Amino acid sequence: MLNTVENSAGKLPLYEEVAQRISYLIEQGSLRPGDRVPSIRNLSKQLQVSINTVKEAYSQLEDRRLLEARPQSGYYVRARLPELPAEPVVDRPALSPSDVSLCDVYQMVMRDLLDPTLMQLGLAMPNPQLLPIDKLNRMLTRETRRFPEQSVAYQLPPGNLRLRQQIAQRLLGSGCTLSPEQIVITSGCVDAVVLALRALCRPGDAVAIETPVYFNFLQLIEDMGLKALEIPASPRGGISLEALEYALQHNRGQVKACIVISNFNNPLGSRMSDDDKRRLVKLVETHQVPLIEDDIYGDLSFSDERPTVAKAFDRSGNVILCSSFTKTLAPGYRVGWVAAGRYQAQIERGKMITSVATASPPQLAMAEFLATGGYDHHLRSIRRTYARQVAQMGDAIGRFFPVGTRVSRPQGGFVLWVEMPESIDATRLYDRAKQVGISIAPGQIFSIEGKYRNCIRLSAARWDSCVAAAIETLGKLAGEPLKET
Ligand SMILES: Cc1ncc(COP(=O)(O)O)c(C=O)c1O
Repeated sequence: MLNTVENSAGKLPLYEEVAQRISYLIEQGSLRPGDRVPSIRNLSKQLQVSINTVKEAYSQLEDRRLLEARPQSGYYVRARLPELPAEPVVDRPALSPSDVSLCDVYQMVMRDLLDPTLMQLGLAMPNPQLLPIDKLNRMLTRETRRFPEQSVAYQLPPGNLRLRQQIAQRLLGSGCTLSPEQIVITSGCVDAVVLALRALCRPGDAVAIETPVYFNFLQLIEDMGLKALEIPASPRGGISLEALEYALQHNRGQVKACIVISNFNNPLGSRMSDDDKRRLVKLVETHQVPLIEDDIYGDLSFSDERPTVAKAFDRSGNVILCSSFTKTLAPGYRVGWVAAGRYQAQIERGKMITSVATASPPQLAMAEFLATGGYDHHLRSIRRTYARQVAQMGDAIGRFFPVGTRVSRPQGGFVLWVEMPESIDATRLYDRAKQVGISIAPGQIFSIEGKYRNCIRLSAARWDSCVAAAIETLGKLAGEPLKET
């Protein structure tokens, strides 16, 4: 049934290859709901991999809700497999630059974020219950005591050296060999992207950006008097390089930067392949357009494999890599960073001019946490939880949303992109949901001029019986307009 697994030169961990083979057999129907899968010992012999590898593969498949363990009996294909609907089809490009219009929906959604009475399913915030809050805060206290003067002094750009050393070490796992001198500490990832845009663009310039995209970037582009050139992206592989090439050729000289969220993009959850990252770096280099890469979700891969970043293929300093610890450790600490390539000096200067420095105490605490706090252990645990929750929410959407609804299948992060039938208006759903105490992010805010009217973004950062009930309610509400017509 299964051939021997050969480790494909470190591309995927071995257990992930085993897990993928079993899920393929389930998808194809060779293993059916209720079937017993090969015992751990047999599969390990058959595939010539260790017992632990098969154990880990089965445990991952349990998390993905494909297998269940039965005491004293072994592993079985779940009797009811997740009823995942089809994936969204996103293809709504605008191949000439447009002014961004700050839509009312965005203002409304921002107001709701402050409303504690609403269940926030539209916010892409990590679940605080999964964060090492006590440990981090203890380190904050300890480090500010240990370095009282440093804790109140400016940590002028490029920022705290120990923190930059830790970040440089971690970047090896993303395929980048950078020195601490090539990193600037910022106040979160958005600060890093702002600094990059300020270094690259002047009012009236165009910025190529995938669509749909994290709404704050669109607001930022508007705020800086820039134009957005939307490039279609797919929920699996991310930005279309063909469309980007076409757009760069047809808007020669106008496009001064390209922004890409390369791993587990917000909102699609897409992840670019290494080949595409390499091609992207070459393409923007050929057109002399700097690339701003946002990798804020990169540490949240559902498999233990940490994806590379496009920056890993950059030989000329044309890629500006931005990230932060917002999604993994502490959004409120506001600690991010930028590896700015050939724009390092401009960005250090920009940081100094706009905010002088990032606050010192969180930098001290974050450096200590990365050095001694068990960051990898923490990541393993939250990645697993998010993988399970994303599967649970996708499954619930499949059950309760109207027929024809599509949902993304991210392999990292915690947001889901839901494309409902064309007749369903996401803003109406948003209004109705709010009346029953649920807040969602309507699709319009993820594009210029309100595309994606039938789409919503949901966060699976939290999953419990209340969230499950909210998804059922949302599905019913989404179905109502269909009944009316
Ligand atoms: C893609 C992306 N980049 C940046 C941010 C914000 O990052 P920070 O809070 O570190 O500024 C978010 C938050 O949702 C995001 O989704």
